[in-house]
Amino acid sequence: TMSSEPVNVNEFKALAERALPKMYFEFYAGGAEDEHTLKANEEAYQRITIRPRVLVDVSRIDMSTRMLGYSISSPIMVAPSGLHKLANPEGELATARAAAASNTIMILSFGSSYSVEEVAASCNAVRFFQLYVYKQRHVAANLVERAERSGYKAIVLTVDCPRMGRREADIKNRMIVSKQKNVEGLVSTEVDADGGSNLEAYVNSTLDPSLSWKDVAWLKSITKLPILLKGIITHEDARIAVEVGAAGVIVSNHGGRQLDYSPATINVVEEVVHAVKGKIPVIVDGGVRRGTDVFKALALGAQAVLVGRPILYGLAAKGEHGVKQVIQMLKEELELAMALAGCTSLKDITRSHVRTERDRCQ
Ligand code: FNR
Repeated sequence: TMSSEPVNVNEFKALAERALPKMYFEFYAGGAEDEHTLKANEEAYQRITIRPRVLVDVSRIDMSTRMLGYSISSPIMVAPSGLHKLANPEGELATARAAAASNTIMILSFGSSYSVEEVAASCNAVRFFQLYVYKQRHVAANLVERAERSGYKAIVLTVDCPRMGRREADIKNRMIVSKQKNVEGLVSTEVDADGGSNLEAYVNSTLDPSLSWKDVAWLKSITKLPILLKGIITHEDARIAVEVGAAGVIVSNHGGRQLDYSPATINVVEEVVHAVKGKIPVIVDGGVRRGTDVFKALALGAQAVLVGRPILYGLAAKGEHGVKQVIQMLKEELELAMALAGCTSLKDITRSHVRTERDRCQ
């Protein structure tokens, strides 16, 4: 049996499963429909190998980088995910403090259990805010205004969610969503789940499926903050993202929770990187579980990665300390991977340091 002290990020999953009620664990862990994309995200990393260079002086390794001009200690950031109070009573306050202590950026979810103001007051750190757009547009305008006023440094518009993906575990468990803290007093949150997932019913009754490219211009007109688009996975959309003035794109399939059979994100990073031609940063998320995964993402042209579920598992297993441990483990693994591959700084990690399945076919 496993010792109680986890030695890698994957081991936090089992600890979280023990700590949480089944309904909550499955809400965090689950994906859409067959969960093909959920599994593919992790498996695709395992099919990429690393080509190390040797006899490089690696006595000093620098993992630091900048994101939209803000310094971070490593290219590992915290993905937006909803409802952290299901994992721990301190919820996003704990996550935010752990991210701040790790000198990295947390993207606070629109669906957080603590409000944008409460999280901002919990500690001093650079933070971005993730936005969903409701049919009632004043809700988004209100949230953007509050995020800007509370010192968030960027808006991350999630674009892969015109409707909610079909998460069958939540339907079976009749997943109950707690009140959406950030929209208290702005919209009514009474929904009829019709015996299925109350979360799905709520999201589908509020989210605006008419959201389109022209709304990015609208969003730009109501805020001075840079806007990142989260959920871009094709070169076509990456090009439009640059054209409409996005400050960055996040290659994401929502951790396999939205469109099942969309590709593993690491397999489309290069496509997006080539399309944006270095004009804006490319971030990738989905399935990052090892420092070597971060190394591979950077070798394929990403500037940084986001980590989703492992953060929630760390929070569920050990609160703020668990989140810190998860980030620290990934950082230490990345540092080791860089040393063993002969890279002393992130800019030393190049395309020639990895071999993908496509490379092997050529
Ligand atoms: C998410 N994700 C997400 N994304 C977003 O833009 N807004 C949100 O509110 C949420 N909520 C959310 C809840 C839970 C429980 C999970 C697991 C994920 C998606 C998230 O930002 C990210 O894209 C994925 O989690 C990355 O994949 P990994 O690291 O979980 O494999």
